[in-house]
Amino acid sequence: MHDKILILDFGSQVTQLIARRVREAHVYCEIHPNDVSDAFVREFAPKAIILSGSHASTYEAEDLRAPQAVWDLGVPVLGICYGMQTMAAQLGGAVEGGKTREFGYAEVRAHGHTRLLEGIQDFATAEGHGMLKVWMSHGDKVTTLPPGFKLMASTPSCPIAGMADEARGYYAVQFHPEVTHTVQGRALLERFVLQIAGARPDWVMRDHVEAAVARIREQVGDEEVILGLSGGVDSSVAAALIHRAIGEQLTCVFVDHGLLRLNEGDMVMDMFAGKLHARVIRVDASELFLGELAGVSDPEAKRKIIGRLFVDVFKAEAAKLKAGSGGHKGASFLAQGTIYPDVIESGGAKTKKATTIKSHHNVGGLPEQLGLKLLEPLRDLFKDEVRELGVAVGLPPEMVYRHPFPGPGLGVRILGEVKKEYADLLRRADAIFIEELRNFRDEASGKSWYDLTSQAFTVFLPVKSVGVMGDGRTYDYVVALRAVQTSDFMTADWAELPYALLKKVSGRIINEVRGINRVTYDVSSKPPATIEWE
Ligand code: XMP
Repeated sequence: MHDKILILDFGSQVTQLIARRVREAHVYCEIHPNDVSDAFVREFAPKAIILSGSHASTYEAEDLRAPQAVWDLGVPVLGICYGMQTMAAQLGGAVEGGKTREFGYAEVRAHGHTRLLEGIQDFATAEGHGMLKVWMSHGDKVTTLPPGFKLMASTPSCPIAGMADEARGYYAVQFHPEVTHTVQGRALLERFVLQIAGARPDWVMRDHVEAAVARIREQVGDEEVILGLSGGVDSSVAAALIHRAIGEQLTCVFVDHGLLRLNEGDMVMDMFAGKLHARVIRVDASELFLGELAGVSDPEAKRKIIGRLFVDVFKAEAAKLKAGSGGHKGASFLAQGTIYPDVIESGGAKTKKATTIKSHHNVGGLPEQLGLKLLEPLRDLFKDEVRELGVAVGLPPEMVYRHPFPGPGLGVRILGEVKKEYADLLRRADAIFIEELRNFRDEASGKSWYDLTSQAFTVFLPVKSVGVMGDGRTYDYVVALRAVQTSDFMTADWAELPYALLKKVSGRIINEVRGINRVTYDVSSKPPATIEWE
């Protein structure tokens, strides 16, 4: 049994980051909505509890309270932003609405000596006060400390920016330690979970493999499992893990829609069927997909067609597997690579507070339609953890640290109508771009530009431009290179790739890919542009 931290979510956009920071300290934690029952909190048996921020105001939102059990359990509690305000309001202090919202960078002064902040500071003032560089986002503030609490931190505009009742292990900060702009945020959260709560740092992916394998075996027994393999990180790691647990009882279905990257289909087969010896059925449906996409140029219409056909093709294969044949009795489980952010985003937490719903994740409703039970071995894990687990079960790091690739594949990277001719040109141009990103290293960090960017790809523009090659004039297609840096894909900056890299890529694409005579670089940030072009 792992020691567990309970994070109660009051609806902040950044609650997930609290969980990520705690997990990075190798402590297991879960996010649940703030209105869980007292019994739930007791049964969860947390080593400590963290109360998140919120958009709401404590004195407006009566229902946004921590359950009474939080205060009855006798475990340390950390309140963040709104979590601090509700702690103050519930324990006998006072909170008032601020006239102005305080948003962004602030310097906070630490007061007295508290276990939470001891030895943690960014700089000291001339008078010797420890200072923290933090990120704030609040309107309301605590104006009276609850009985038993002492002042822990302040700013000129927020005199009570932190408070502590060390006898009970209650700490609270008005700023956000979970965001990276708060320089010592990670140290502060680590201090809370490891030293103050005394949680064991035993959440390590290498060790988690055995537990995950045991759980899959127990859930599946001697039944059979189908998994839709896309070549993406999540489904690949799920496949490798489940295969390790139940071997031949797993069958992967890999639908090739003809919109994959160069040699991608063969690489997936080589890895799973070749190296891992898993049962993989490769369905070549490229003619079907390209046929249905002919004449369609609207991006959303293309997405719908690709999504629908994907489900149809997968369902047909799954139905065959469900029926069983050739020594296989028939599948009763459908495995999916659902990960923890999907669970949180789709309102797995019952009040759906922290939701920004993405519809393009996994195939909703499929298990019910197919009459299959669901197996989701990654549902407790963040993306970084899925990657570590992938390496731990033997997948190559280049595979698990790949940039994300959209489900509709090159279908949304060929602007307008999708044609096989365009897809073939794009695949070759994109492979050159990616190869050079992997080859070029940044001298200062020693990292490749592939690792220094979050997502990079080539976009096919169905327009022709004039060029000159040798003695002749050319009239060929144009591609755009796109490379962005982002931490969450909600906002992104275009990457300042070295000119030498861009030069090499454009030279190679124009020389090696007959049919493309012009290469451009996309210098738009998100927002207002998006990362993909469609
Ligand atoms: P945008 O273009 O919206 O992309 O800035 C944000 C992230 O989402 C990916 N993306 C998709 N992924 N199906 C997917 O599975 C889609 O239809 C889709 N559209 C965008 C995109 O690659 C980027 O990582």
